[in-house]
Amino acid sequence: MEVVEVTTAVKADDFRELMAGFPSGISVLTTIDADGDPTGLTCTALCAVSLEPPLVLVCIHNGSRTLKAIADLRRFAVNLLHAQGRRAAEEFSGSGPDRFSAVQWAPLNEAGLPCLTEHAHAVAECVVASTTVAGDHTVVIAEVVGVERIDSRLPLVYGMREYVAWPGGVNGTAKAVA
Ligand SMILES: Cc1cc2nc3c(=O)[nH]c(=O)nc-3n(C[C@H](O)[C@H](O)[C@H](O)COP(=O)(O)O)c2cc1C
Repeated sequence: MEVVEVTTAVKADDFRELMAGFPSGISVLTTIDADGDPTGLTCTALCAVSLEPPLVLVCIHNGSRTLKAIADLRRFAVNLLHAQGRRAAEEFSGSGPDRFSAVQWAPLNEAGLPCLTEHAHAVAECVVASTTVAGDHTVVIAEVVGVERIDSRLPLVYGMREYVAWPGGVNGTAKAVA
């Protein structure tokens, strides 16, 4: 494989601006830490990797408490937020003392992975296949071993530093959600 040497450093703000123009759905990744406590974070860096087997990829910043717990347990849940799930997105990216006391949740299964019953439209149970450090984030590839649809509402989307409800318009008419 050819390696391209990049000599032009792109500024962080320019990179952020670039990616703000690439909207995506919003998830909250949840797991259980070594003390048996639930832990989780808001994540937009999620994509499908493979159909057979069903693999997803998430990127988590290296300092994340949730990343440490995921790497230890090697299991986590992907909670896909629905259009009224903004509060969960904010809680799980904020500095509140106890994210889980601010939302409704229930154990997904005997593994106890937290399912955000109030704010997710679907939840996937994942088993870690690999972790690779990439810059200041870690790429986690995981097999999806269970899928549950828990609400019929449509997805929440994040782009241009705004939360919008699906479906957004194609002419700048996307409706921001409170
Ligand atoms: C809309 C949105 C998307 C985010 N996406 C990611 C992401 O993909 N990966 C990540 O590591 N952090 C992401 N964050 C930041 C984390 O949610 C935030 O740093 C969180 O506090 C980390 O929690 P932890 O360190 O307790 O695990 C996102 C934040 C917001 C508001």
